[in-house]
Amino acid sequence: MSNVNTVEKINFDEMVQMSVAQVFPEVFDTSATGKVNVRKHRHPDCVPSNPDYIPDEKTLRRVLAWWFSPMRQALGLWGETGTGKTEMLLYVADRLNEPVYMVKVHASLMPEDLEGSKELKASAKGVVTADRLGLAAKAYAYGGLIILDEVDKSNAPLGCALHGLVEGKPWPIEQFSLVLNKHAFCRVAGTANTNGAGGHERYHTSNRMDQALRSRFGWLKCNFPEPAHEMAILEKKFTKLPRLMRKECVQVANKLRDALLGEKRDGVVDEPINAVFSTRTLVNWCSYTMAFGPDALWGESLSFAFDGSVDPDCEQQVKDVIKLQLSDLVNKPVKEVVAHFGQVKP
Ligand SMILES: Nc1ncnc2c1ncn2[C@@H]1O[C@H](COP(=O)(O)OP(=O)(O)O)[C@@H](O)[C@H]1O
Ligand SMILES: [Mg+2]
Repeated sequence: MSNVNTVEKINFDEMVQMSVAQVFPEVFDTSATGKVNVRKHRHPDCVPSNPDYIPDEKTLRRVLAWWFSPMRQALGLWGETGTGKTEMLLYVADRLNEPVYMVKVHASLMPEDLEGSKELKASAKGVVTADRLGLAAKAYAYGGLIILDEVDKSNAPLGCALHGLVEGKPWPIEQFSLVLNKHAFCRVAGTANTNGAGGHERYHTSNRMDQALRSRFGWLKCNFPEPAHEMAILEKKFTKLPRLMRKECVQVANKLRDALLGEKRDGVVDEPINAVFSTRTLVNWCSYTMAFGPDALWGESLSFAFDGSVDPDCEQQVKDVIKLQLSDLVNKPVKEVVAHFGQVKP
């Protein structure tokens, strides 16, 4: 289908070539010679991404390789919660002026929900019923990025319906007596906590995706960012906190990940804790440290950001890890913690 705005005559499929350093300056410096195709006009369905997002270089390179490859298997980003999977897709699409159609997958989402619905519309002939394409169907017909967010939560009928869509086959929409052919600029990506294998202790609502669906995705694993990367993320957003205080936050995060997944992050650890300290938690901890103000104890913002992720049976273990890293500072008002770290030379 055509993607031309007939009122203003804007052709949203028009592309311009831009230098990769201009579009993704967080990763490519001015010596990079690569070019990327960007839509010339920003589509109304573009979604602004997190202005503080700093992508992991390798993951961004792979996502771009997928984006511009002619093969177009669907892309699956998988990994622990809060590692920046959804935001990576939003970041890339935003920079490329690509419209985004986000489908939040959950256990009761059904194939018809992707297709669309009938709606009542005023017209010259009175009120009539009109077909309204769902988000995924709109992207399929006109182009754009479909994000199947948390695709491993899909139920069996939805999983089956996704086969054809993920593979780019003509998509029959029975309720509208319509068959959609995949637009040349439609891409399908998914995020997941598992790579579709199911049976995960921490992500028990993630279902086992059938082999046929799993294999139609190319899977990229998203790990917790390296400490230097997380320091850069915090530095961009929390300049008012002393650098050494931010460093402690990153160290707490990593000590807790050691206790979750082992020092090599390979799952080899005695008595692992059942609490994920993600980049999301880290950013939230610093945000609430700022929001609660100088008189609040440092531990209050930590509890606020993290307690919801801690299983009761590992609470004591978690407390011990935090205590070992922060000692009594965690029970001190933030103003004292700031003064303490402000005084220590970096
Ligand atoms: N690379 C990053 N740069 C900046 N913030 C990040 C990054 N990765 C994760 N975050 C933080 O974590 C939050 C969760 O990211 P999100 O993409 O929703 O995680 P996921 O989809 O992996 O569960 C973001 O809103 C942001 O605050
Ligand atoms: Mg997500």
